[in-house]
Amino acid sequence: KHALTPPRLKTMKQQGARIAMMTAYDYPSAQLSEEAEVDVILVGDSLGNVVLGYDTTVPVTLNDMIYHTRAVMRGAASTMIVTDMPFATYRLTPQETLRNAARIMQEGGAHAVKMEGGAELSDEIKRLTEAGIPVLGHLGLTPQSVLQIGGYKIQGKAEKEIEKLLSDAKALEAAGAFGIVLELVTEPIAEAITRAVGIPTIGIGAGRGCDGQVIVYHDLIRYGSNIRDKRFVKTYADVGAAIRTAIGEYVQDVKTGAFPEEKHGFPLDGDSARLLEG
Ligand code: KIV
Ligand code: NA
Repeated sequence: KHALTPPRLKTMKQQGARIAMMTAYDYPSAQLSEEAEVDVILVGDSLGNVVLGYDTTVPVTLNDMIYHTRAVMRGAASTMIVTDMPFATYRLTPQETLRNAARIMQEGGAHAVKMEGGAELSDEIKRLTEAGIPVLGHLGLTPQSVLQIGGYKIQGKAEKEIEKLLSDAKALEAAGAFGIVLELVTEPIAEAITRAVGIPTIGIGAGRGCDGQVIVYHDLIRYGSNIRDKRFVKTYADVGAAIRTAIGEYVQDVKTGAFPEEKHGFPLDGDSARLLEG
């Protein structure tokens, strides 16, 4: 099995084959995603929220992203891996952005990077793609700007917002992005963007009309104490509850002496056991 490539993803769009993307942050989540035949793994800076316990993705560093990408790469050697460029490691000069993206590729092992934003990123995306770094765009709700936006709001309602989303999507395609994540965008607008561009759109909270979907690992399996119910998430398992129960039972077993049992220990064999007699 070979990792998917940007041209292959475009072909999938043309053929109407939906793209299943999900986040992973470490070796086991990557391995399980690859075993489940996920098309693309996103090492999202959402790891700031779900793995590192921050309130936003703003504190996540380039080194955090590289560190987690390395673990993911070891777990999913045959899957396309896209890594988020974290807050303020782009929107710089194209040269600085290229240097940061190159570290994610070379030190982390990602096949592509993702950046939040629209037409204003055109020069940087051109520079990266010319240098051989595939770039995935990200429009709609862009969490790195949450302090500026003032909350996690649905995008693509007001007329001006809609026009900007459409022109940004076209600008990303023109700059060379190989796809666009659409986060928290109204369904009709996500659908319109999907029709308007030749590159695949990957939705999260963007309705049914996108070429693919992405979901956060911890949301999908309800893993973590800070995972809240969200309208756009479908929960497939309650792993958090299973872990909480398991740890609770372990604590009880240790307190009562129910664990360990004889079978969990290692007896001496044969002759040496006699040393302890008498
Ligand atoms: O960081 C992330 O997980 C993301 C997805 C939600 C698209 O950017
Ligand atoms: Na992200």
